[in-house]
Formats: sequence, structure tokens, C-alpha cells
Amino acid sequence: MIEQFKKDVVEGLGKSPKSIPSKYFYDAIGDALFIKIMNMPEYYPTRAELEIFSEKSDEIIRSLSLKKDVFFELIELGAGDGTKTKQLLQKLLQQGYDFSYLPIDISSTALRDLEIKLENEFPTLDVRKKHGDYFNVLETLRTNNHPKVILFLGSNIGNLTDENSSKFIYQIGANLKTHDKLILGVDLIKSEDLVRPAYDDPQGITKDFNLNLLKRINKELGGQFDLSTFDHVPEYYMHEGVARSYLVSNRDQEIRIESLDRSFSFEKGERIQTEISRKYDDRIMKNILKETDFRIVDKLTDKNGYFADYILSRS
Ligand code: AVI
Repeated sequence: MIEQFKKDVVEGLGKSPKSIPSKYFYDAIGDALFIKIMNMPEYYPTRAELEIFSEKSDEIIRSLSLKKDVFFELIELGAGDGTKTKQLLQKLLQQGYDFSYLPIDISSTALRDLEIKLENEFPTLDVRKKHGDYFNVLETLRTNNHPKVILFLGSNIGNLTDENSSKFIYQIGANLKTHDKLILGVDLIKSEDLVRPAYDDPQGITKDFNLNLLKRINKELGGQFDLSTFDHVPEYYMHEGVARSYLVSNRDQEIRIESLDRSFSFEKGERIQTEISRKYDDRIMKNILKETDFRIVDKLTDKNGYFADYILSRS
């Protein structure tokens, strides 16, 4: 892990324009900051998707075409705290479906917390937590013949380029059988006045989240970044439908990173791209799915039309 981090930092800061992959946001501090982000009034995606799961779980279940007498596996990629999924789990249990819930996460602490919560709330639910990388776990699951429903929520797919999203979804499909389903939660394209504040909150939580990348380089790689010399700069234009986050050097400077035995120079105003956050519409989604084995069977949105959960079926 640390070797890959070093490699990505050398490569990302050594090129022009500079960039660092957003997956490095998520250490313990980054996880805690992201939970704060999800609770901010400006960060609408979490509330919008929760509304879909709270109010439209019956519709979700109908569009999955499940049979009550056939056991299936409900598999969640990156389960987090399971708040949205709980709405669906409750309905499935109430309606007498025969299934197990398999949350997959790279954080064993998050999985344990979720398991305890679910044990208390749904004592009859069969939970089989799976710790590890999504694709390694999916591979181990493909050996059984049970129908599968995969959940990938929160617009996490949006942190990938369209090309990588397509490869990622294709890979999910490669581990599934015909008629298996994927529920894909995505943030929809909307105007700047709604999206920008979600990535530029007045409390500065998103700024801390972004700067945590440099903090992590300081801590884990012996970097000498002075955080006050970088500004958090988000960007979003509706016609592009992509929110981008940058860290921008507010002076000319040379930064040494001890464990890489290297220094990197920054000009005043030079940017490090730290994240892309894709927003979608049907055209973009269909384009991404073109190279995969999935087709859209349904699309559920919140009342404001901010967010969508696409129900996809493996052909
Ligand atoms: C995890 N991901 C979907 C979030 C997003 O909206 O792209 C991460 C995030 N970055 C800044 N705020 C939230």
C-alpha cells in the first residue's frame, strides 16, 4: 500500500499538470471528514439518495424482479454505515424475501460497526461481511449460483473517469450471471448554484478533506508541505457536468518529500488536481454502459431530481 502511494505521488507530482488520485483522501481522518461532509446541509447527494431508498424501496424491489421462493445475495460495494441500505433491507424482510446481505468494505472497523448495528435492528437478517477489495471478493462469490443484486451507491462511481467507470462496471458484470442486477446510485447534472456549495462549504470541511491529502503525504511519506500555502479550489461548470477539486499553491515553492528523496517545485497558482466528481444524465450513463453487459431497466429519482438510482440488469 505505502509503495503504491509513493509511486502515485512521484508520478502525480512529477508530471504537468499535477494530480494525485482521490482514493488517498480516505485514511481515518479522511473517513471522519467525509462523514461530516455527508451531514453538511450543502452536500445534497446523501439526503437525496436516502429519500429514494426511504420512499421508493417498494419500486426498487419491483424492478429487481425477485422471486420470494428463490434465495439471493444482496451485495454492497463499500457499505459505509448502511443508512440507505437499511431502508431496503427492512422492506425485503417485511415482504418475506429469502436473502443474505453481504457488505464488502476495505475498512474492517466500518464492517464490524455495521454488523453490530444490523444485529440489533434486524436480528433475523443473515449478514455475511466480507473484508477486502471489491473484485477479489466478487470473484470468490461467483462460484455459487445464487442470483445476485449488487449495490454501488453514493455516486462513488463518479470519482472515476467515464472510461474507468465503464471498465469497472464491465468487471462487476464479469462476476455476475444473466439477469443479476446492479443498483447504481449517481449524482445528476444540475446547475452551478447547487453543485458548487456542495464542494465548497462555508465551514471549510471540504477544504480540510482536500488538504488531508497533503497531511497524509507529510505523515506517511515525510513530506514538508505547509498546508497554509495551498488553497482549496473547486470548479464546476454545468455544461461539462464534472466537479473538479484542486489544491493551488499560493506561492513559488520547493517541497521536499523525505521518503521519496525528492523535491517538487510549485509555481504560484500551480494546481494539483485531487478529485473529479462526475454528474450524470441518461446520455452519459448509456454511453458508459455501451461497453458493458448491463442495460437500464429502471431509474428512480428523488423529488428534486438531484440524484438517481439506476437499476441495471446483466444481459
Ligand atoms: C465519495 N464521493 C462520491 C464524494 C463526491 O461527491 O465525489 C467525495 C467528496 N468529495 C468532496 N466532497 C465529497
